[in-house]
Amino acid sequence: MRIDILTLFPEVIKPFINASILHRAQQDGHVRFFVHDFREYSEDKHRRVDDYPYGGGAGMVLKVEPVVNALRGIDPDHEAVRILMSPQGLVYHQKKARTLAENTSLLILCGHYEGFDERIRDYFDMEVSIGDYVLTGGEVPALVVIDSVVRLLPGVLNNEASAVEDSFSEPLLEYPHYTRPRTFEGKKVPDVLLSGDHAKIAAWRREKALERTKKRRPDLYEAYRKKENS
Ligand code: ADE
Repeated sequence: MRIDILTLFPEVIKPFINASILHRAQQDGHVRFFVHDFREYSEDKHRRVDDYPYGGGAGMVLKVEPVVNALRGIDPDHEAVRILMSPQGLVYHQKKARTLAENTSLLILCGHYEGFDERIRDYFDMEVSIGDYVLTGGEVPALVVIDSVVRLLPGVLNNEASAVEDSFSEPLLEYPHYTRPRTFEGKKVPDVLLSGDHAKIAAWRREKALERTKKRRPDLYEAYRKKENS
């Protein structure tokens, strides 16, 4: 997969994509990242990418030209799925990550300032929000999308099963995990996990996943029950 990221803050994006699993995914050839500072595409001699809003009001607005110039320079034939990060977008979830992971090319714009020129929307395929809260910019949201997509690419996680078994692959939260020591400050690892009986362990994990989902996320539990009964 190829991922282009348009940002005014490449220094925020780069350390994250060059660490840990995303770093390994690049080395193993599963993903290529291209980080672009779209200030480079400004036609302004001061390289400005924002301006005052028509009609007045507080804050600055991201201009349309540098964004469209960047899109035309980077993705002239509109081959990538173009994603605009914005709190006004559809709220992101695991199902969306799975559909995005099926593409060969993504291009993500990290917005900034009070907002962006409305006409920018016409050049994108989708607008994505990572939740109902407002951040200072689209970099962290873009990294959320990138991380959730890249880990789903075939071969990225060593243990293929771990991507499938995660919370939200089916609409259940994960069962509790334990590792050594067997006892910590009086808290013991459940006996069943030490039993070596794989069927019993699987049944216990299932039960705990259901119990936990029902308690913490009744909405997910209901969706799961509906799916099971359909
Ligand atoms: N930019 C600012 N807040 C955001 C959010 N919640 N999701 C996506 N992009 C954003």
